[in-house]
Amino acid sequence: MRVGIVGATGAVGRELVDVLGRRAFPVSSLRLFASARSAGMKTTTPFGETEIEEFSDAKMRDLDLALLAVSGDFAKAHAPRMVEAGVTVVDNSSAFRLQDNVPLVVPEVNASAIGAHRLIANPNCTTAILVVALEPLRQAFGLRRVIVSTYQAASGAGAEGMAELERETRRVLVDGAKPQHDVFRWPLAFNVIPQIDSFQPNAYTREEMKVVWESRKIMGLPDLPISCTAVRIPTMRVHAEAVTIETERPVTPEAAREVLRRAPGVKVVDDPENGIYPMPLTATGQDDVEAGRIRANPVFGDRGLDIFLCGDQLLKGAALNAVQIAERLKAA
Ligand SMILES: NC(=O)c1ccc[n+]([C@@H]2O[C@H](COP(=O)([O-])OP(=O)(O)OC[C@H]3O[C@@H](n4cnc5c(N)ncnc54)[C@H](OP(=O)(O)O)[C@@H]3O)[C@@H](O)[C@H]2O)c1
Repeated sequence: MRVGIVGATGAVGRELVDVLGRRAFPVSSLRLFASARSAGMKTTTPFGETEIEEFSDAKMRDLDLALLAVSGDFAKAHAPRMVEAGVTVVDNSSAFRLQDNVPLVVPEVNASAIGAHRLIANPNCTTAILVVALEPLRQAFGLRRVIVSTYQAASGAGAEGMAELERETRRVLVDGAKPQHDVFRWPLAFNVIPQIDSFQPNAYTREEMKVVWESRKIMGLPDLPISCTAVRIPTMRVHAEAVTIETERPVTPEAAREVLRRAPGVKVVDDPENGIYPMPLTATGQDDVEAGRIRANPVFGDRGLDIFLCGDQLLKGAALNAVQIAERLKAA
């Protein structure tokens, strides 16, 4: 396939290049696009040295597959034209996720939604990590309600978010100065921020509502009650999620562990006595979502379960999921 990555210099774009190589995706040619400021930069890829090109619609026409890792506004402006020109597009932004005629896909959950579509949306990172673990539990025990609290890494805000956390941590430790902020609403170094994206009329943030809207669409449960509190923490990558569910049928931690052990994309990491549980430290760079601290939640009697998840949101929450979608296209 003639593959193009748009946003190739960003946090997700760089991972896309790596994942395509690591999974031996059948790439006959790879072209990397970014803004004018990156044009001409050379980068080493698993497919050879490649020069970053300034994006233009005309350059996309020769591609079979475009993986977009750019802003929603950019995707809205350009993706429809790419599809018209015969290019299949997998978009990482939120631009098309909730459009009725665009499938929103996590292959472990709803690969069949891809069908013959030529524009496919990749979900919000927190959502992708969540539904990989929720769907097998839903199949086994039914799902009545979901409450999630997230602990989200700086890289969720892109390459600039990572750079700001690193720079400001140094400023505090090396210079003894107060941290500053530009990408995040407040300094993130030595802090946690209970706001990701803008506040909505219902007092939730847009990030929190994305988890609600997108989980419902992917799992085909439009009325599932979900509440999310999304918090930014000063780690570099991996989103952690404390998840409480009420099931329709009785559930035990042992039965849930067994279901999750068999679930694709999930790795049970659950030996708390020995300090074994999901952590950003261990989940970084891993394709599977770690699930642990699995225990009965007594608030919901014999139908309550608490789980702690850690998933590398640049992989399962973005690049890996996009490439997994592309693999299904190839097979179609
Ligand atoms: N970060 C995550 O964890 C995550 C997870 C899931 C989904 N997403 C979504 O994925 C998308 C990319 O996120 P990111 O975190 O990778 O952002 P990022 O690190 O800020 O990267 C943005 C990329 O877009 C490129 N770009 C900006 N303006 C452009 C233009 N006019 N023409 C062509 N390229 C342009 C940038 O190129 P330059 O370097 O040349 O400016 C850069 O390569 C966003 O929609 C985001 O919401 C992110």
